[in-house]
Amino acid sequence: MILLEDVVKRYDMGPVSVRALDGVGLQVDDGEFVVILGPSGSGKSTLLNMISALDTPTSGRVVVGRSDLTRSSARERFAFRRETIGFVFQTFNLFPTLTALENVQFALDVSGRRADTRAGAAEVLERVGLGERGWHFPHELSGGEQQRVAVARALVTGNPLLLADEPTGELDFATGVQVLRLLTAHAEEGRTVLVVTHNREISRIADRVVELSSGRIAADGPPPGGRAEIDELHW
Ligand SMILES: Nc1ncnc2c1ncn2[C@@H]1O[C@H](COP(=O)(O)OP(=O)(O)OP(=O)(O)O)[C@@H](O)[C@H]1O
Ligand SMILES: [Mg+2]
Repeated sequence: MILLEDVVKRYDMGPVSVRALDGVGLQVDDGEFVVILGPSGSGKSTLLNMISALDTPTSGRVVVGRSDLTRSSARERFAFRRETIGFVFQTFNLFPTLTALENVQFALDVSGRRADTRAGAAEVLERVGLGERGWHFPHELSGGEQQRVAVARALVTGNPLLLADEPTGELDFATGVQVLRLLTAHAEEGRTVLVVTHNREISRIADRVVELSSGRIAADGPPPGGRAEIDELHW
């Protein structure tokens, strides 16, 4: 499903050049639940940006499904994102002038996947525990509630690849577990899920843990000690 070959992303900032990704090779199969770990600045968000076609590498190749993202036009990349990707941004990126319900509905409207997009959006908001918050604007929601709207917006289309950047960063244990259950259920339905986190405990429920360090893959394998169930987690 996902293939990265020798991907380099360099940012030239005046006299300073940052290699956010420094020769990353990675292959992820359909239906895998992958956790990406690594210190701040190690390239995790940059990696998600490459896989979602939000940004292009300086060199190397990125292929997702049948799309070679390093050879596609802006129009193809737009269609690719609409049809393939669900993205939970590290900073949520909710539309400030749309309500929670409209933020989620917007993703469904754009996808063209469902006729009754309002009902579909309400259903997924309910699943993240925000059935009563549909009419709130983002600034009228707590940080954790905004994060769950962002999760609902990414889940609602049912697109085959979900990329989530710290999706539980603002959540308490019980709410975080609720979100993780939705993400694992999403993967169990055959979709591919990549979750960036600083929380090593979460990596225990992954099929596979990829660790980044200074833009390179430092480790890649099953969680040490084997895969745990969500009920075994505590943080
Ligand atoms: N748009 C940009 N312009 C210039 N440099 C950038 C840009 N985006 C990221 N970087 C740099 O690239 C490196 C990797 O950034 P990235 O956001 O991928 O890290 P991260 O692993 O997601 O960190 P965090 O855990 O803090 O979110 C950092 O050193 C950062 O300063
Ligand atoms: Mg980041």
